[in-house]
Amino acid sequence: PAAHAPDLFIKENLADLREEAAHCRACHLYKNATQTVFGEGAAHAAVMFVGEQPGDKEDLAGRPFVGPAGQVLDRGLKEAGIARNKTYITNAVKHFKFVPRGKIRLHQKPTTPEIKACRPWYERELATVKPALVVAMGATAAQCVFGKITPIGKNRGRLFDLAEDAKALVTVHPSYLLRLPDPDSKEREYKQFVSDLKLAASYLR
Ligand code: URA
Repeated sequence: PAAHAPDLFIKENLADLREEAAHCRACHLYKNATQTVFGEGAAHAAVMFVGEQPGDKEDLAGRPFVGPAGQVLDRGLKEAGIARNKTYITNAVKHFKFVPRGKIRLHQKPTTPEIKACRPWYERELATVKPALVVAMGATAAQCVFGKITPIGKNRGRLFDLAEDAKALVTVHPSYLLRLPDPDSKEREYKQFVSDLKLAASYLR
């Protein structure tokens, strides 16, 4: 073999990453979750969405954003003219974190150590997909994408430069929209979410 063995430079691919992540033990969350929920979508999507972590439905299905928050995201994507299968969708943390409450599994916010433990998967997804734009949905995603605590309220709708030769856009998490009790603010926040998604749409190739 040549001195510079070409396979030293072979790029990672998503199928291998997914397989490796299925056995991840970088934090304790794998113990109670059903499975790793890895990112999915177009291998070289121009736009990559990052959520917080899989919820109950995602944990069972093994796919991101297929539960109630996923329905809000799907509706927003449609209104913004974005085909979901042209994007790549992942989460900052790839196992469902919950506490049992009777028959339901109550979602728990991931901690900073859990976000950090999972970040290599995001980094490797980013390096493989090479999107032009990363959309961080909510505080956990923003903490993952920027590597530090980043408030959503004053940064949403704004574009940032990432070291990885991509832009990042901060927006709210779809679950936040579901939780808003007042219909007027819900509608206003949802419209703003769709306008953030329209900005993301302009990055699609
Ligand atoms: N919320 C998230 O952040 N990610 C999912 O995949 C589902 C709900």
